[in-house]
Amino acid sequence: MNTQLQDLVNQAREQFAASPSAAELENAKARFLGKSGAITALMKDLAKLSAEDKRAQGAEINLAKQAIEQALQARRDALAEAELQARLAEQAIDVTLDGRGQRRGGVHPVMRSWMRIESIFRSIGFEVAEGPEIEDDWSNFTALNSPQDHPARSMQDTFYVDLDDARGQPLLLRTHTSPMQVRHARAHVQRHQGSAAMPDIRVIAPGRTYRVDSDATHSPMFHQFEGLWIGENVSMADLKGVYTAFLHAFFERDDIELRFRPSYFPFTEPSAEIDMMFDSGPLRGRWLEISGAGQVHPVVVRNFGLDPERHIGFAFGSGIERLTMLRYGIGDLRQFYGSDLRFLEQFDAA
Ligand code: DAH
Repeated sequence: MNTQLQDLVNQAREQFAASPSAAELENAKARFLGKSGAITALMKDLAKLSAEDKRAQGAEINLAKQAIEQALQARRDALAEAELQARLAEQAIDVTLDGRGQRRGGVHPVMRSWMRIESIFRSIGFEVAEGPEIEDDWSNFTALNSPQDHPARSMQDTFYVDLDDARGQPLLLRTHTSPMQVRHARAHVQRHQGSAAMPDIRVIAPGRTYRVDSDATHSPMFHQFEGLWIGENVSMADLKGVYTAFLHAFFERDDIELRFRPSYFPFTEPSAEIDMMFDSGPLRGRWLEISGAGQVHPVVVRNFGLDPERHIGFAFGSGIERLTMLRYGIGDLRQFYGSDLRFLEQFDAA
């Protein structure tokens, strides 16, 4: 191949290599192989030559043409391959990512405790009752011996609802489950009116409660369960027996001690805080406040529709979050309500 043809082939290779796209490659091709391209022009010039020169020169041009066509095809293939790779990269699926399939839900740790508490108390003869979270002022406070302006009301600041009920009672989000004592007892008394002997009232009432309170150990919404046992001869000793049995069952261990620490609640007299202590494990030897309790105040018994000279018993109100935190060793109550699956999933098999 003469140097002129060799230069042409080299130019074609360079221009093909410099074409970044198929369209530009076709333009470059036209400059050499197109109707007015360099190779085509050389072919036309052959006409002027003698038959002998034509054959020799023609063969050379053909070699150059083949070399250019080869370079063109190689560049076409390279561009197509690059385009395919780019498309694949763009549509890449990261197979190491989590799938978006459905996942199995679990029971929230607080609900787990709620369910355990119900089944434990049912097993020792308690009914389970539930009542309204939007409560009337009378049931939440007055019936429980906290009349208007009683200083004990300020122990439980709450959310008031901008409506009164049908009897003109202000409505509020209940600050505790204690109003269920009154609701359940009154219904019980009514149900057994006229019968010779009224069966004991023996009930727990779990549910949501609300207070204007928020920190590591308080949430504006939290859960309590109320306990109430009213009969003709029910004492604080029975309270201790029932609550001890409950704690042993709840924590699934017997090395738990209880003490009653004198306290004040308007709806009980005497009133106590129940403290518990584990005899082993990480919390060993520390008294932990677990529940309010007491002998139901005569004023409250009267509001049940019963004669306090004849009917007597105990009540308690315990925090479900608190028990759950102790059972699982959780330090911050707010974790229950952060909806962090890494936290919640730990309880799926608990
Ligand atoms: N209602 C009280 C509270 O939320 C707890 C309580 C204390 C309930 C004593 C009771 C009780 O039934 O007897 O702080």
